[in-house]
Amino acid sequence: MLLTQIPAHYQKRREKLMQRHPGAVFILPSAPELIRNGDVHHPFRQDSSFYYLSGFDEPGSFLILGSENSAPSRKSKMTLFVQPKDPEKEMWEGERYGREGALSVFGADEAFVNSELEARLPDLLKGAERIFYRLGHSEEMDRRILAILEVVRRRLGRSGRGLIPIEDPQVAIGEMRLYKEPEELDLLRKACQITAHAHRTAMQELRPGMNESEIEALVDYQFRKNGCQRLGYGSIVAGGKNAACLHYRSNNETLRSGELLLIDAGGEYGFYTSDITRTFPIGKTFSKAQSQAYELVLSVQKAGIAMTKPGAKLPEIHKTTCELLVDGLLSLGLLKGNRVELLKTSAFRRFYPHNTSHWLGLDVHDAGLYTQEGEPRKLEPGMTFTIEPGFYVQPGDREAPEAFRNIGIRIEDDILVTTNGCENLTHEAPKEISEIETLRSKAF
Ligand code: GLY
Ligand code: MN
Ligand code: MN
Repeated sequence: MLLTQIPAHYQKRREKLMQRHPGAVFILPSAPELIRNGDVHHPFRQDSSFYYLSGFDEPGSFLILGSENSAPSRKSKMTLFVQPKDPEKEMWEGERYGREGALSVFGADEAFVNSELEARLPDLLKGAERIFYRLGHSEEMDRRILAILEVVRRRLGRSGRGLIPIEDPQVAIGEMRLYKEPEELDLLRKACQITAHAHRTAMQELRPGMNESEIEALVDYQFRKNGCQRLGYGSIVAGGKNAACLHYRSNNETLRSGELLLIDAGGEYGFYTSDITRTFPIGKTFSKAQSQAYELVLSVQKAGIAMTKPGAKLPEIHKTTCELLVDGLLSLGLLKGNRVELLKTSAFRRFYPHNTSHWLGLDVHDAGLYTQEGEPRKLEPGMTFTIEPGFYVQPGDREAPEAFRNIGIRIEDDILVTTNGCENLTHEAPKEISEIETLRSKAF
């Protein structure tokens, strides 16, 4: 269904971006349409920055921001190149906005059909001091854009000037996307609530003997039933030793009582995704070793959340996570030796090989620099990120005490930095052992 109106915040974002980059023109192509096989495409999902600045989610489009030709008050001029209206195509693929919709619904200052890019873009680039365009993402797109820039260069004649400098827009736009506005937080909160609810439902519905794929489908169903348009990333539904495979995606084995199930899955709501991991028994209760390992990861995760406030830094949270994990692994007998040495040589990476956090938003690994002037950046209100420590014993690890083999645990929440601390956006997903065991007992 086509929209008739979109909120004003897209326009405000464009104005802010162009105020920060006067004299620049941004060229953003829509996400590519990817062929799966034959004439079947992968589901289309708009490029996050394109969407962030326009709200327009059709493929085959170009978003151009800024132009020398615009009056000073209209430096954020938006030109959209879009798919043409085409009743025959629309009968097969669905309705399109066309030029009219780009102007009336999305507030473009100018709109053209996409086949006019080559003819129109050189004029829009007249006088541009800098171009923001992501080179190297698509060879075909690069060829098109560079050919257009060559036309612009030739038009400069004997001015002595060369090709307009090209910069990757990732940092400029990422710098804005990193700080979530209230209307973005509304969407992210909703994604987090729906996702937390789906994880809870999985804890209630799982029975030994089910296949990982059934739980994948159950979680997917809960997301969509409650308003998510799609998943934010491919779900990981990993029973037993499969949980030690960090990007496990097969999701096709039978779940056995006595083992743990790790689910890392997030629903996308209004283009914002949650990212939750929970680990719980396939039977009713955690075994002793499972609960020892689980309590360790949970206490480490809570320590990370407790550190989160303006001024804190993600590497500090990761460092504390690693230190506390090493302490726990030493006391459980999984690691032996000197604490300082173990941390220095990263020997613990055998059990915890990944990082603790990443930005979260329109993309599961969201845009935004992690450093500023070479230093880890300080957390500020409005930033959202994950805290996701884990503990994994690889199936081939014969040195680990037997009780800990086949265990993979990760606990992941989505955190918003507030003015005086933080808010756990995914607190509704159960993670205390007592709460999980109560849910699991009721499942039988
Ligand atoms: N689900 C992807 C991640 O946790 O980073
Ligand atoms: Mn994550
Ligand atoms: Mn995750």
